[in-house]
Amino acid sequence: MSSQQHRTSADVPAASPLFTALELGGLTLRNRVSVAPMTRVSAAEDGRATRRMAEYYSAFAAGGFGLVITEGTYTDKAFSQGYRYQPGLTDDTQRDAWSRVVEGVHRHGGRIFAQLMHAGALSQWNPYNGGTRGPSGVKPRGQQMTVYHGSGDYALPEPLSQEEISAAIRGFADAAVLAREAGFDGVEIHGANGYLVDQFLSAGVNLRDDRYGGGIERRVRLMVEVVEAVRAAVGPTFVVGVRISQGKVNDFTYKWSEGEAAAAVVFGTLDSLPVDYIHTTEFEAWQPAFGAGLSLAALAKKYSRKPVLANGGLHAPAQATGMIERGEADFVSLGRGALMHPDWVRRVSEARAIEEFDRGLISPIADLENARRHRERMRAQSRSAVTTP
Ligand SMILES: Cc1cc2nc3c(=O)[nH]c(=O)nc-3n(C[C@H](O)[C@H](O)[C@H](O)COP(=O)(O)O)c2cc1C
Repeated sequence: MSSQQHRTSADVPAASPLFTALELGGLTLRNRVSVAPMTRVSAAEDGRATRRMAEYYSAFAAGGFGLVITEGTYTDKAFSQGYRYQPGLTDDTQRDAWSRVVEGVHRHGGRIFAQLMHAGALSQWNPYNGGTRGPSGVKPRGQQMTVYHGSGDYALPEPLSQEEISAAIRGFADAAVLAREAGFDGVEIHGANGYLVDQFLSAGVNLRDDRYGGGIERRVRLMVEVVEAVRAAVGPTFVVGVRISQGKVNDFTYKWSEGEAAAAVVFGTLDSLPVDYIHTTEFEAWQPAFGAGLSLAALAKKYSRKPVLANGGLHAPAQATGMIERGEADFVSLGRGALMHPDWVRRVSEARAIEEFDRGLISPIADLENARRHRERMRAQSRSAVTTP
């Protein structure tokens, strides 16, 4: 076995909890391994999901994943779009394009949730409106993401007006209804990674002095209103989850300034809301969230009674199994592990090796064409290594 591989056979007993079913908001997932949401900037220019995206997503279900969560999908034609070639869920055309993706995943026995995302101040591209909007006029740290066609500094956002906040909330609710009509099994509200909902949660970029700003118990207000609007729009029987992180795409090491007290408010608030699961993400899911003590997933368990989906560096089967066995999470999601092995679940259950992530799959551009070309190059290289004496 090379050092590039993780052993699977010794680590994952056939009775691993990863391979047991999970009941989630009236839905049965066939196992506890999900594909994490991953932006692939591969939609049509007008935000329609493509045939190639349908093939890409259905491969995960064919490879055994119980649940696929889509890439962050924009929710309105005002200020939500983040990236060029990002898919949207803002009209019937975009809805119908997604329904072909959903069918492909269902055909292979998987479930699929749409991740609903408003980019806020991190928007790098928006054909519908000039300028960006955020909680306050604070220029985002760092540089735009080149893997998503960005370059240079982020724009200085204008603070959202109350009407614009109401429109953004309506966007989430309308997009959730379109998701249900497209056949999705649920939606995940993107409250993580530095996008709009997370911008409101974060003290450094939310300087508002209205009811959306102040201490953490006030900064959760946008999240609360988005969840309530989505639930009211889709009714009681459609799965609604929320993703939460500390780190941001433009500030990886960010920590909540209030420490565990923020976790208590965020997860305690979600506990009281009509959500079906909480998705936590950290660089390594099992590490303490604040230098010592519990992981973010375990904190979500401590302060809520909701099922917890843990994410971050869980592609080694023993780590994924450990999160569930220790009671830190109910199910896990894999990002890079799923890109590397769309059949990760089948591989692990057959005790086959898991390889290290190959960054060429998402670099220089994180789209599906780049991944196809990269895989072709790798195949050609290994063929020539075999034939060259
Ligand atoms: C190419 C790429 C795109 C991503 N896009 C999103 C996204 O749209 N929404 C989201 O919540 N997270 C996104 N993420 C973060 C992943 O969901 C996940 O949190 C991260 O990859 C860490 O998990 P891993 O260690 O299993 O890869 C993305 C990650 C990658 C690699």
